[in-house]
Amino acid sequence: MTKIKILAGSSRPGRFNIQPATWIYNIAKEQEGIEVELVDLQELALPFLDEAVPPSMGQYANEHTTAWSQKIGEADGFIFVTPEYNHSYSAVLKNAIDYLFKEWNYKPVSFVSYGSLAGGSRAVEHLRGIAGELKMYDLREQIMLPAYWEHLNEKGEYQFTDRHKESAKDLLSSLSFWAEELKASRAKLG
Ligand SMILES: Cc1cc2nc3c(=O)[nH]c(=O)nc-3n(C[C@H](O)[C@H](O)[C@H](O)COP(=O)(O)O)c2cc1C
Repeated sequence: MTKIKILAGSSRPGRFNIQPATWIYNIAKEQEGIEVELVDLQELALPFLDEAVPPSMGQYANEHTTAWSQKIGEADGFIFVTPEYNHSYSAVLKNAIDYLFKEWNYKPVSFVSYGSLAGGSRAVEHLRGIAGELKMYDLREQIMLPAYWEHLNEKGEYQFTDRHKESAKDLLSSLSFWAEELKASRAKLG
């Protein structure tokens, strides 16, 4: 089974993040051939990076790092669900990413973002920059929710449309294709 991890990248109380993260998780669960997990960085509650040795050496001293390494290491592809904070992505997401290195290598990543009129696009541009350093393959497919607060019902629930669902299916189709292809490539690298 191809394993896809969806990272919910906000730890704020009352965050919007968990809505798009849960939405795409529920769509992904319906897709055949992939095993999907929603990884909530709020629940994970990693401390600020507290390893003495740089992650690229893969020598982890702390239990939380070993557990995080195992979770990301078993994945074949990712969806990062990110807010935009001051024209970039969240600190909790950066911290979770910085903990590891080889666990991210040669794996595809796609994005769901939201925010004001730019829909979190500036956060995603920054994530695409670090994907290169981590030897990840960032996919063109992404979902942006501009001015998301204008699309909430009286209960504060975002009103996703059929068009959003189509985009989610396109994203998942591309992500699962490349996750499968790159799994085979990683096997060749040994
Ligand atoms: C520290 C901070 C900085 C923000 N900066 C931006 C920004 O640069 N661009 C933007 O579109 N929204 C910005 N916002 C508004 C967020 O899009 C909005 O608060 C959103 O709900 C944050 O995601 P979250 O609720 O999942 O944490 C900012 C919010 C915070 C808390």
